[in-house]
Formats: sequence, structure tokens, C-alpha cells
Amino acid sequence: MFKINENYLKLPGSYLFSTIGKKIAAYTQEHPEKKIIRLGIGDVTQPLAPAIIDSLHHAVDEMANAETFHGYAPDLGYEFLRNAIAENDYRARGCDISSDEVFISDGAKCDSGNIQEIFSIDNKIAVCDPVYPVYVDTNVMAGRTGVYDANRGVWSDVIYMPCTAENQFVPEIPKEVPDIIYLCFPNNPTGSTLTKEQLQEWVDYANKVGAVIIYDAAYEAYISEENVPHTIYECDGARTCAIELRSFSKNAGFTGVRLGATIIPKEIKCGDVTLHSLWARRHGTKYNGAPYIVQRAGEAVYSEEGKVQLKKQVDYYMKNARVIYEGLKEAGYCVSGGINAPYIWLKTPKEMSSWQFFDYLLEHANVVGTPGSGFGPSGEGYFRLTAFGSYENTVKAIERIKKL
Ligand code: MLT
Repeated sequence: MFKINENYLKLPGSYLFSTIGKKIAAYTQEHPEKKIIRLGIGDVTQPLAPAIIDSLHHAVDEMANAETFHGYAPDLGYEFLRNAIAENDYRARGCDISSDEVFISDGAKCDSGNIQEIFSIDNKIAVCDPVYPVYVDTNVMAGRTGVYDANRGVWSDVIYMPCTAENQFVPEIPKEVPDIIYLCFPNNPTGSTLTKEQLQEWVDYANKVGAVIIYDAAYEAYISEENVPHTIYECDGARTCAIELRSFSKNAGFTGVRLGATIIPKEIKCGDVTLHSLWARRHGTKYNGAPYIVQRAGEAVYSEEGKVQLKKQVDYYMKNARVIYEGLKEAGYCVSGGINAPYIWLKTPKEMSSWQFFDYLLEHANVVGTPGSGFGPSGEGYFRLTAFGSYENTVKAIERIKKL
């Protein structure tokens, strides 16, 4: 008789955004006349930039001819895209990353979930609290997190680094030494950032204790302030301790197209073994490469027109972020984020729990957000709104919230 991976049974409830999706579906079925505005999951709403569309069309036409047709992509990614990433995201910023340290994938979500596979089950992970749920849930599936305490919403073998208003939503070095540290900055969900000096402290710490940092840089295109690092490789010593995850979802609107990259410098080693070689082995075995047409679309992100068009797209969303931030402030909410990130983090009013506020907002304003407690216990009493809606809907949503 077959047996299942019982670690899956330890997972509480369904994935956060699936739960929210089900709640919206139930509400819409009951109230089909209501016009719901979705500012929950960070899904983009603006069309792909013209440079990307042109590149996609061209690549599709190539697939129609035997001479230019492409079958399986190279498992680690096409050279043209690996070069474009190494050049534009790293070397242009003075960071020493070579194209063969760039692994192309079909999105940062998969990579952030899969990367734990190349580490021993004995490793102890440290996560910010609140945190993007994929990091913890995938470690639960692997059996690395111990026992779940449903009352406190924590796992016995996970080190939580609370990010609260008291520490400006910036994690402190934990007392217990972790083996793997997940950091995401600009942060999802709080929208907070680290300065270069603060990130340097994490890199120095990881090198000192022999930990690996998994650095999720999905929101770097939204950085508007100086001294906020766009990549962890701006820090000295990051090449020996940091893996970086890059996404095309938020900087180029690829949530429905799917493209990502993971950077693993060859200097990160356990004894003589490089993490680079393990991830290459995994990629080669389990993955057949992101589609050619999508990688060509990714290349267009780095073209001169692409850069100009995408800067405009990011500005569009950041205008929404200002509408949310300022509107909620005027309405008396306690808000943060939204300056270097497309997420606004607010304290729920009247001591409501995160889920109570979710229901209240859905029912009375027909606006969907994300309950902070879905990201971890320190998110309780908080709520996240995304700037990825259309401008018109964002303005409408804030007007509705102001009237409550
Ligand atoms: C979010 O809303 O937190 C993200 O969009 C989810 C994701 O990127 O998977």
C-alpha cells in the first residue's frame, strides 16, 4: 500500500491566497451584483509593455519556421537572457556576478519553494514574521519545521524574527543560530526595506556563523530611495553566503507569463561542494527550461525601450501606492510601506483581528485585501493592500474605505 508524505497533513488550512480566493468566490456567488475591487494578491493589472509584446510576437514567428524553431531550452537558460541579467542587474551595479551563475526558471515562487531541496533536512531555517508563506510551507512539506502550535501559529523548529512597528518591521539577528536565513527586501508583506549597512550586517553574520541567506529581491524595481540595496551582492562577502531570487512578475508584469532567475555564486560551499553544482544538477534533472518565447520576452525587459516602458509601469503602480498610503493616513489609519514597495501595511482599526477586518472590508466596502495574520503571528492585527490594481479601482477602493 502506498504511503503519502505526511508532512503535508501538518500544513494548517490551504495556501493563503487560495483561502482568500475561495472567500471571494463565496461572497460573489451570494452577492453577484456587488463590484468587488481586488487589492489582495499582488497580481499585476497593466498589459505587457510594447517592447515585450514585440519580442514575444517575433519569437512566436520564429517558432513557425523550421530554420528558427526552438525545441527544449537549455536547462539552465538561454545565454542571451543569462547575459542580460548578469550585465544589467549585477555588473551595471558594480556586482560581480557572471552569466553562468544565473539560473533561469519559470518564476521565483517555484524557486523559492524548491531551493530548500538542496539542503539537508537538519538545517534550521529563520524567517521574518510576518513572511511570504511559501518559504515556511515548503519547509513544512520537506519535514524540516517540527511541530505546529496552532494556538501560537508557530512551528517548533523554525526561528521566527518578529518584524513589528517597534523595530520598523526590520528583523533583528536571532538569538539562536540558523543555518538558512530567508530575507525578502523590499519586504513582502510589510513593504519595509533594509539599508545597505543593515543588509551588510546580515551578510557578515551569515559568513561568521556559516549560514546561507536566501534573498528574495522580487520587488527591487520599486525601490525609490537611495541607500536601499537593489541586490544583496552590493554587500561585501555576499558571494560566499547568499543566493538571490529574481522575479519578472512585478518589475515587468509577468505574473501570467512566468519567468524568474536564481543567482548562485560559485563560492558558496559546504566543504568542497558548491551549492551551484547542486542546483545545476537539480535543474538539469527536474526542469526543461522556461519557454524560448518567454525568455525572449525577458530579454526585452533589458532593451532600451523596455527599460523606459517598464519604469513608467512601475511609476504607475507607485502612484497607486501613494493614493492608498495617503488616503488611509487621512482616514486615520496607521500605515507603513508603499515607498519602496508596492505593498501598504496597515494596522486594523478598533482592535479587529486581521480576518475580521478582511470580512468587514469585503462586506462593507467590497474591497479585498490580505489579512496580516496569514503571513505569520506577528502579522495579526495588520492588513496588506497591494498597489497592483488599476488606478481607477485604487482610487475607488480608497474612497469606499474612507466612507466606512
Ligand atoms: C503576494 O501577493 O504576496 C504575491 O503576489 C504572491 C506571489 O508572488 O506568489
